[in-house]
Amino acid sequence: MKDVTIDEAVQLLQMDEVVAIPTETVYGLAANIFSEAAIKKIFEKKGRPLTNPLIVHIPSVDALETLAQNIPPLAYKLAEKFWPGPLTLVLEKRPEILDIITAGGPTVAVRIPNHPVSLELLRKLPFPVAAPSANPSNYLSPTSAEQVKQAFGAARPYILDGGRCKRGIESTVVAVKEDGVHLYRFGAISKEEIEAVIGEPVIVANSEKTIAASPGMMKKHYSPRSRLILTNDVVATVEELDGRIGVLSFANEYQHEKIHQQLVLSGTGDMAEAAHNLFSYLYDLDTLELDVIVAELLPEEGLGRSVNDRLRRGAVR
Ligand code: TXA
Ligand code: MG
Repeated sequence: MKDVTIDEAVQLLQMDEVVAIPTETVYGLAANIFSEAAIKKIFEKKGRPLTNPLIVHIPSVDALETLAQNIPPLAYKLAEKFWPGPLTLVLEKRPEILDIITAGGPTVAVRIPNHPVSLELLRKLPFPVAAPSANPSNYLSPTSAEQVKQAFGAARPYILDGGRCKRGIESTVVAVKEDGVHLYRFGAISKEEIEAVIGEPVIVANSEKTIAASPGMMKKHYSPRSRLILTNDVVATVEELDGRIGVLSFANEYQHEKIHQQLVLSGTGDMAEAAHNLFSYLYDLDTLELDVIVAELLPEEGLGRSVNDRLRRGAVR
């Protein structure tokens, strides 16, 4: 499969093909939400279980009412503040939304991506697209066209190249319910940013209970091929390991003769920059046939929680 233009992507999507598209978070594997055949191809290509529902991508807030109903005012408030952008809203679905999109559940997840290429694509299409991250299930999410190729190898899909994703980490997924805003997945918008808009604490969904509602909370996910070990003390952890060791550190570069390769997420300790580089650097380290990647945890606040969430799931064996 080859790189395609926006107009070619429009044609392919209208023919029930899947196309990898850029967004500001990560690349998505897109298909027509009203074609069951097209959506099935997403699940087949990713090896994704049908129990994991998909996010629907729309070009403007006007399209929201064609997908969801009984939309709470607070959902509109969040949409107004964060769209286009990396906030996904889980809402009561309209009856015409296919079960394969929602894993048979009563809700649908929706967002407007903030990327000029995907916005132009969505405006040209007569339907919204569903798009999970463009990687085989459980592998690292791709943040460039190159990484989509790396993730799928010979089985790569058509790719609409829109450069490197600015955010580099997936959208934050929330559901607005009667008792408040429930957070299903930490992501590119921090819990604190949402709380500043709603004026009350976000309810962090407890993963055991929400696994059925939002399988993105599944423990194992986002894993490199090399073994991943997390630490708050890089040097002490490296000291105990043998073999080819790679290090993904937050802000400091550590000196140790046993480190084969080290990448620093943000030399200035900027968490947004760290999120931007996270998957990209993991892809780079994963090409080096390391025995182990030692990743340093970020402070447990703001985007640090989102980065740590991905690292923790990636480290589950
Ligand atoms: O940034 C993103 O969200 C990217 C780009 C491509 O938009 N997409 C993405 O999709 O990360 P995916 O499929 O990798 O993750 C979707 C997440 C999963 O955690 C899924 O369980 C959750 O959203 N989700 C989807 N529909 C849901 C629903 N109806 N209720 C609860 N959670 C839902
Ligand atoms: Mg994903």
